[in-house]
Amino acid sequence: MKKIAVLGAGLCGATAAAALTQQGYQVTVFDKGRVAGGRMSSKRTEQGYLDMGAQYFTARSDAFKRQVKLWLDAGKVELWPCKTALLSNDEGFISLKASEDTQARFIGVPSMQSPVTALLDGIPQVNSCRIQKLDYQQQSWTLFNDEGVSYTGFDAIILTLPPVQAQQLVAHSALPELFGSADDVLEPCWAVAMHTDAMPAQDAIFCQHPKLRFISHQQHKAGRSSCYILHFNAVFSGLYLDESAQFWFAEAIAILRQELHIQQEIRPLVAHRWLYASQNDQSAAPGLIALPNLKLWAGGDWSFGGRVENAYLAGLNLANALIEQDKSQQETP
Ligand code: FAD
Ligand code: NAI
Repeated sequence: MKKIAVLGAGLCGATAAAALTQQGYQVTVFDKGRVAGGRMSSKRTEQGYLDMGAQYFTARSDAFKRQVKLWLDAGKVELWPCKTALLSNDEGFISLKASEDTQARFIGVPSMQSPVTALLDGIPQVNSCRIQKLDYQQQSWTLFNDEGVSYTGFDAIILTLPPVQAQQLVAHSALPELFGSADDVLEPCWAVAMHTDAMPAQDAIFCQHPKLRFISHQQHKAGRSSCYILHFNAVFSGLYLDESAQFWFAEAIAILRQELHIQQEIRPLVAHRWLYASQNDQSAAPGLIALPNLKLWAGGDWSFGGRVENAYLAGLNLANALIEQDKSQQETP
């Protein structure tokens, strides 16, 4: 195997692409987005970057700790000096309580996608390219995008799309199903950015709230302007999935006034809908998926439980699975 197509330029795809490139493979990365980053994306605005996806990441495994150290040394990542709190729900009575801990939390600088773009440095990328169909003929893959453009001559494919999108792609390509049920793996999240002049005592508020999952304030994040990002929980996001930005701004304002007692003017900035955001706690993480006869592997944060670190580990494991199979085929007489 020489030429590899990696679908998805989130952290998982970027990690797989970097690991394969290091081993001498010719890798091309395709993504439907304009820039790499996937769910580690900050939106560039006149007010500075707004982290609409992942807010921070933690590092528990040795492999990811080593990678984080490289990013820290290269200035792509910094520690987030965040003060934490809990918006607790005591039989319907909601109150904000300090909830300090010693967990190291990291952010990309100047934006969340910086570590992803650093991994992809020098690797050919095709952006704004939604792959709609795959075709495997005579041991060679061809990819077709939604404008009918084709990319041909790949020996293997690594898919790092969210499960529903990966399943749609293989169904459209008449390939074997990857998941029994892809619908339950990742759940939605509406993310809303709001500006106020308030400088709160806390930066990271974990929420036990009927509507919210997390509130972040960007005041101590390098490169960002000082504003709030609210993440609505999967149930509430799902109930009002197709509502307009105006609906979400109104919800966010009401919460900032009611729960955080913000009195200053609140200015809505951005509302973003993530259809496939976070792992459903009720469904087991499916692990990596391999169709070795077709030289196709699939994985993502969802393989091991949706966190940034797990996207990285899935990327490493996908690359290793491909390399192992390649080696074993070379050794077979
Ligand atoms: P993705 O980043 O989703 O990458 C998949 C890529 O595939 C995307 O770039 C997409 O554009 C591309 N794609 C999809 N379909 C196609 C197609 N047909 N053709 C081409 N490209 C395609 N994790 C944490 O650890 N800490 C947090 O604080 C945190 N907060 C979060 C908050 C939100 C709102 C969200 C949405 C996620 C959060 N996460 C957090 C989870 C974290 O962002 C993910 O675990 C991680 O970024 C997933 O990386 P990935 O590469 O597996 O997938
Ligand atoms: P972590 O260790 O900071 O948090 C893990 C979980 O522990 C939190 O979700 C929270 O429930 C609890 N927790 C941690 N510190 C706390 C504190 N000081 N007070 C109260 N509760 C605390 O980070 P880890 O394990 O790396 O998890 C990643 C984070 O990403 C989680 O917070 C998760 O909710 C979030 N995430 C959000 C998504 C979304 O759609 N909004 C999607 C995927 C992940």
